[in-house]
Amino acid sequence: MTTATQPAPAIRVQGIEKSFKDLQVLKGVDFDVKAGSIFALLGSNGAGKTTLVRILSTLLKADAGSATVQGFDVSAEPGDVRESISLTGQFAAVDEVLSGRENLVLVAKLRHLKNPGAIADDLLARFSLTEAGGRRAATYSGGMRRRLDIAMSLIGEPSIIFLDEPTTGLDPQARIEVWETVKQLAKGGTTVLLTTQYLDEAEQLADRIAILHEGRIIQNGTLAELKQLLPAAKVEYVEKQPSLEDVFLTLVGAGAASASGTTSASGTTSDTGKASS
Ligand SMILES: Nc1ncnc2c1ncn2[C@@H]1O[C@H](COP(=O)(O)OP(=O)(O)O)[C@@H](O)[C@H]1O
Ligand SMILES: [Mg+2]
Repeated sequence: MTTATQPAPAIRVQGIEKSFKDLQVLKGVDFDVKAGSIFALLGSNGAGKTTLVRILSTLLKADAGSATVQGFDVSAEPGDVRESISLTGQFAAVDEVLSGRENLVLVAKLRHLKNPGAIADDLLARFSLTEAGGRRAATYSGGMRRRLDIAMSLIGEPSIIFLDEPTTGLDPQARIEVWETVKQLAKGGTTVLLTTQYLDEAEQLADRIAILHEGRIIQNGTLAELKQLLPAAKVEYVEKQPSLEDVFLTLVGAGAASASGTTSASGTTSDTGKASS
C-alpha cells in the first residue's frame, strides 16, 4: 500500500455512493488528486458534481465509500478537513452592499486573523482588484465578482480549494479572467478541484480530467491521454475559420489573455463582412 516514494494524494475518493431517496446519484466514485495540481471533474448538468463536492467538503454524508482530504477522513475528521479547504460555490457569496475590500476584511475578521486590512490589500492586489477595492461590490462585473469570491475563499490560506462551476454564467472575457486566477493559484501550490460542464474549461485548466457520468467516473486522465482514446485524426485540408469566440474576444480586446494559440486563426480580414460557413 505505502509505495514509499509516492507522496500522499491531496484528495482520495474511494467507492463513494450517494442516493437521494430512489435517485442513485453516485454509484461508486473513485479518484485521486495530486497535491498542487488542478483536477477537473467534468460532467453534464445533474451528473452529481455538486453532490460530490458537498461530500468532500463535509456538508453532506456519503451512503458508502470513503474519502480523505489532506489525509483527513471526511466523515471521521470533518473539522480537520474544513480547516484544510475552502469552497466556492456556484453562486457567489459576495455581500454586494459592502465594498470589495470590506468583504475581504469581514472574512479575515471572522477567521480571527491578525491585520485583516493588510490581508485584504494583499488579496486585492493579487486579483487585480486594487482600484475597484473601495467600490461597492454591486458595481462589479461578473468576472470581478467571481474573482472577489475566490479571493475571499483564500483567506486563511487553505491548501485545497473546491471551485464548483467557477465560470458558469460568466461572459467569455470574465471566464478567461477566472481561468488566469485559477492557474495562478495552482502555481502557488494550492490544490484545485473544480467542477465544470464546459469541455474547453477542463481543456484550458486541468492537469487531469475525470468524467463523471451516470454515477461513475468513466474516464480519468490527462488531456493528451483522453485524446488518445479516439482514433488518430485523418489528415484533411480544411480552411481554418476563426470561431465566434475568437472573433468576439478580438473585437472586445481580450485576445492577449488567451494563451493557447486561438488568436491567430488564418484569414482574419477585418474589412470583409466575414461570410463564414
Ligand atoms: N438534496 C437533494 N435532494 C434530492 N435530490 C437532489 C439533492 N441534491 C441533488 N439532487 C439531485 O441529484 C442529482 C445530481 O445533482 P448535482 O450534484 O447538483 O449535479 P451537478 O452539480 O452535476 O449538476 C440531480 O438529479 C439533483 O436533482
Ligand atoms: Mg452543480
